[in-house]
Amino acid sequence: SNNKLTDRFGRTINYVRLSVTDRCDLRCVYCMAEDMTFLPRQQVLTLEEIARLARNFVQLGTEKIRLTGGEPLVRRGIIDLVTEIGSYGLRDFTMTTNGTQLPAMAETLRKAGLHRLNISLDSLDAEKFRSITRTGKLSQVLDGIDAACEAGFRGIKLNTVVMKGRNDQDVPELVEYARRKQVDITFIEEMPLGEISEHDRGEALCTSDEVREIITRHHDLIPATADSGGPARYYRMADSPTQVGFISPHSHNFCSTCNRVRVTVEGRLLLCLGNEHSVDLRRVLRASPDSDQHLQEAIIQAMDLKPEKHHFSVDGEVQLLRFMNMTGG
Ligand code: GTP
Ligand code: 5AD
Ligand code: SF4
Repeated sequence: SNNKLTDRFGRTINYVRLSVTDRCDLRCVYCMAEDMTFLPRQQVLTLEEIARLARNFVQLGTEKIRLTGGEPLVRRGIIDLVTEIGSYGLRDFTMTTNGTQLPAMAETLRKAGLHRLNISLDSLDAEKFRSITRTGKLSQVLDGIDAACEAGFRGIKLNTVVMKGRNDQDVPELVEYARRKQVDITFIEEMPLGEISEHDRGEALCTSDEVREIITRHHDLIPATADSGGPARYYRMADSPTQVGFISPHSHNFCSTCNRVRVTVEGRLLLCLGNEHSVDLRRVLRASPDSDQHLQEAIIQAMDLKPEKHHFSVDGEVQLLRFMNMTGG
């Protein structure tokens, strides 16, 4: 391939996650503090700057782009950005969303060229959903999932962050829901990002092994051979097209096959979700608006800063100051 992005550990970087806003209409307990302050406008990349980054990453060999937030669908002009990036001929063009805006936007997003959607859903109980998201209305998200299912995406996946004593009881019901809708579902171990009090984090880490044990009381899980190359390990069931994935940053390190970097909405290139190494691409974008050469050189050089692995662990001694809404997971 013509990929120009490799790191010191021989990994090829062909997947870029672009955060398009730090804002969100929800306040999930594992993602934000209750009273968040958001970035002032000038610090945020313009849509043109985000598209320029995307275009240059594609020229350097990127085959997969995911738009994240915050909540990407609350960024004004997002459809224009999707249309622009959708014209770059990516192998995979996806978005991670909380689903609240999908009733109105799902069809437009699909038509604008987005291939797939990952939608966060932590509970099917309206009160629990409200308490985890602090402000969310479950029915709005369920309507959004239905709209997405009807819009003809290549794939839809639900994301569930499992918290002991908070929504671990909801796992079987979420699996049944995913089977009914014929979508995939991934269960995620919570990562310690941002200064969120221990109280908000729930009682203790719920490991993927525990979640898998809960599911196998109802369904045999067969290891799926096809691997997305991402951090999730997938299982299938004999009687359904639904795949069940597990993302286990604490209990199962997946860094040796990492193929991704992230850009925050301030234009900071983050080499790993689990630490603070970053390169200020906004400065480069704004210093040379008419030439992409410096930008591409800065991106290529930044790969040398990619660390071998993250340092989240079961005792959770690593705590990053950055909140999740700056990186979109
Ligand atoms: P697919 O393209 O469908 O495989 O999705 P994805 O897993 O790459 O993206 P998604 O946005 O759905 O991410 C789901 C969860 O995985 C989020 O909570 C992310 O924080 C987490 N995650 C994704 N990539 C990494 C990574 O490189 N390191 C860590 N620690 N977590 C990750
Ligand atoms: N730990 C793990 N996953 C998280 N997400 C948000 N915050 C965290 C966290 N602290 C997930 C959301 C969403 C995706 C963007 O990241 O569930 O699916
Ligand atoms: Fe918003 Fe997603 Fe963070 Fe929840 S996890 S507050 S939906 S950005």
